Amino acid sequence: MTAGAKVLTLGHTIHRLGEVVSTQIEAARLAAEGASEGTVVTATHQSAGRGRRGRQGLAAPGQSLLMSIVLRPPIPPGLAPQLSLVAAVAVADALGLAGATAAIRWPNDVMVGKRKICGLLPEAVTMRDGALEHVILGIGLNVNQAEFPAPIRELATSMRIETGVERPVDEILAAVLAALEDRYQRFVQAGVGSLLPAWLERAQGIGGRATAADGREGIAVGLDLDGALLLRTESGETMRVVAGEVTMEAVHAAGH
Ligand code: BTN
Repeated sequence: MTAGAKVLTLGHTIHRLGEVVSTQIEAARLAAEGASEGTVVTATHQSAGRGRRGRQGLAAPGQSLLMSIVLRPPIPPGLAPQLSLVAAVAVADALGLAGATAAIRWPNDVMVGKRKICGLLPEAVTMRDGALEHVILGIGLNVNQAEFPAPIRELATSMRIETGVERPVDEILAAVLAALEDRYQRFVQAGVGSLLPAWLERAQGIGGRATAADGREGIAVGLDLDGALLLRTESGETMRVVAGEVTMEAVHAAGH
């Protein structure tokens, strides 16, 4: 990590697009052409928005904040997933200011209660020598949906559903960028450890039973410094879960 403060403004350049396949693709193209850190791409609609594990986003035009940010953090590529943690705290901060108490579901989801309101997708690109070239951080936040179709009604929510208020998506973009600027600066200057208390304060399921995709079970006790989820087994061992789905029993929806 660099020690000195770095002045940057996330969103110094914002490419506001209409319908695209995915803002991740547009931002990756700009990054490959040399776009500087903080360049943002937004779209009103994505025909094939990307999600973790190939999931595609679901969003009617204009109702969600669909954005991708070019980041060039001074970290090894293996630590790029930490940016989910940084972004999750920032989005939860922004939602809190808007009156929706949000919690974080490891590793990439921001929730209100049991319903997902935001998904995060950090995609890293490395150079030939293996160093990190850039990360495209994707954020998909449900803003103005009044309801969701039956198959996902119990799984998804929006800021409008939670607060009863419709808001311009641009206003939410500014709020998320401001919160992210603050958290990202701290991450670059002091490392992810400086964000762990804020993450834990907002995390769902810490202290409850958790089952990893490979069947390992334990009590979720916290996060490792690289962002891995730590589970304590019945025999008292600590296991690290670095990727994949984890089913976590609800303990409480953390507020702040
Ligand atoms: C997930 O929940 O699995 C992550 C979803 C990330 C969706 C956002 S929407 C903006 C950006 N563009 C994409 O194609 N995906 C991310």
